[in-house]
Order: sequence, then C-alpha cells, then structure tokens
Amino acid sequence: MTVSERIEQLKSEALSAVASGDSTAALEAIRVRFLGRSAELTEIKKSIGTLSPEERKEVGRSSNRASREIEAALDSRTEEVAAREREERLREEAVDVTLPGVPFPKGHLHPSQRIIDDVVDFFVGLGYRVAEGPEVETDYYNFTALGIPPGHPARTMQDTFFVDEGLVLRTQTSPMQIRTMLAQEPPVYVVCPGRTYRRDSDPTHTPMFHQIEGLAVDKGLTLGHLKGTLAAMARHVFGEDVQIRLRPSYFQFTEPSVELDVSCFICGGTDPGCKVCKGAGWLEMLGAGMVDPGVLEEVGYDPEEYTGYAFGMGPDRMAMVKYDIHDLRLFFEGDLRFLRQF
Ligand code: PHE
Repeated sequence: MTVSERIEQLKSEALSAVASGDSTAALEAIRVRFLGRSAELTEIKKSIGTLSPEERKEVGRSSNRASREIEAALDSRTEEVAAREREERLREEAVDVTLPGVPFPKGHLHPSQRIIDDVVDFFVGLGYRVAEGPEVETDYYNFTALGIPPGHPARTMQDTFFVDEGLVLRTQTSPMQIRTMLAQEPPVYVVCPGRTYRRDSDPTHTPMFHQIEGLAVDKGLTLGHLKGTLAAMARHVFGEDVQIRLRPSYFQFTEPSVELDVSCFICGGTDPGCKVCKGAGWLEMLGAGMVDPGVLEEVGYDPEEYTGYAFGMGPDRMAMVKYDIHDLRLFFEGDLRFLRQF
C-alpha cells in the first residue's frame, strides 16, 4: 500500500468515525485519535522530508486535504451534537411551575390584636403617636403619680400582682401617661397599647389582659373633644350605627371622669340573662376623663395653661363584643380551634 493509499484509508476511517460519534466527548476523542500529535496522519506529515521529491508533493497535498476534510467533518458534527446535548440538558433541568407547592400553614391575627391594630390605626390617623412601656412598673408610676398614694383605698380595688418592693405588674396602661408627660413638653397626643395584669378570673376577666391608653394634652382641650374623639373611635371599630353613652364615673387621675358604654351587640339589651352585658344592654368599654390638674402638676405641666383628656380601653372586651365571643378566657388559652376562626 502506498502512503497515499494509506492516507485515503485513514481519511475514510476518520470520516465514518465522525459520522457515528454521538457525543461531544466522543468527537473530541476522535479528533485526538486522527489529528492529534501522535496520530498516524501527523506522523506521515512529519516524515514528508524523508520522501523523494515527487512523493513529497503528492503526499503533502493529500495529507493536508485529508486533515482539512476530517477537521471540517468534526466541526459540523460537533456543532450538531452540541446543540442536541444542550436541548437535552434544558429538557432535564426544566421545572414544572404548574406543580402544586408545599402547603404553608397560614397564621391568624389574634382577635385582640385585630382590635388593637384597628384602634391604633384610627388614632394614628388623627396624628397620635404610639408609645409602649414596661409591664413591670414602679409603684410610683402605676399608683402614686396617678393620685393613688400608698394606703389609698383605690389600691385594693386593682387586685395587684406585687413583684418586689416598689415594683408591680402594671394594673393599667395609665402609668404611660406619666412616663409620656415626663419625657416631653405639651402638646401631647399619644396612644399606648400593652399588656396589663390583675388578680381576677371569670368569664369577663383574665389575670392578663390588654389595655390601650390614650392621652392628649394641649391648650383648650375640653370634655367635648374627648367625647367626639371617643364616639368617632367607637364608630370606626364597631360600625357607623353603634350606640354610645357616657356615664359619670370616678378615677383618681381624671376630673371629671366618665365611662363610655357601647350598646350590647350580643343581645341588643333584650336578654336579661345575657352573659356579656348581664342584661344591662350596654357594655363598659372604657374609662376616661379630663386629666386631673394634680397629675399635670406632678409632671411639671402648668394646669392653668394646659388641659388634657385621657382614656383607657380594653381591646379584649371590645373583641368579645365585635366578634360575639362569650368567654374572655378563650382568648388566652391558646386553643387553635378557637384562634383559627379569626
Ligand atoms: N386606667 C383606668 C382603668 O384601668 C382607665 C382610665 C384610663 C381611666 C385613663 C381614665 C383615664 O380602669
């Protein structure tokens, strides 16, 4: 066999190998085998110098042509195979976005939290600031500064949890009135939601409950401003046709003092045995009043220049009315069957 014949043979071997190469890796191996540094065709090219001049010309031409043809076949076949491999990879890696996801359990807002959010939103809309304070409170902020000094009979009414000498679990959010006024100059417009504690437990009382305190101190504030504000708040929370009434009351830190009642949503005042309003037809919603001048003096405000009103409400109680829940204790037992209803 002449060298030229061997070249033809190698070329057709290479071309048929290329035609059946079915992966880019296999084609790369074919390239090395037929065109690599130690391939037979390469060896032939290296030996050209040792051939006779006629052979040299002939072998040079045919070996170069063979290389070019093999090269071209490899390139086009590789392009084809690479495209197919890319397709396959895309198909394998495809994500079916229509498959159902893993269900994620949805949480619920606690009914009290819904009322708190609602009330706070309402007051923020009026320009009130939101403030929070400590649940372990000093005796001074919780009682003394609010006109309830040691030995005052009102202290026994609040069924206080005493933590330590001079420290209590706050029985009300009213100490935030004192903290707020000591921290700033008037005008004051603030709402303070938070947890409060009393030794009490029955269908409408739990040892831990929530309050939202409100305080406004400015020049020229009157009971009329208080009433209008609270009526608008009650309508915001309970709906436009809610009935309210103010009753005279008494608190040590407001003068005059009032209580705001909302018409009983449960029985509408028709059931003398109603568990929630106890037949009264009205629900006590909050205590309020004009800030006592003695309290203003205690925090260094001039009662001749400024007047103020304060109110404290129970969002838990309000949630009972709004969502028709008859037992307050359900709120804090953590029973998911109850909580999932909201
Ligand atoms: N802190 C009072 C209570 O818990 C409510 C109240 C707040 C009354 C603000 C007047 C003004 O009963």
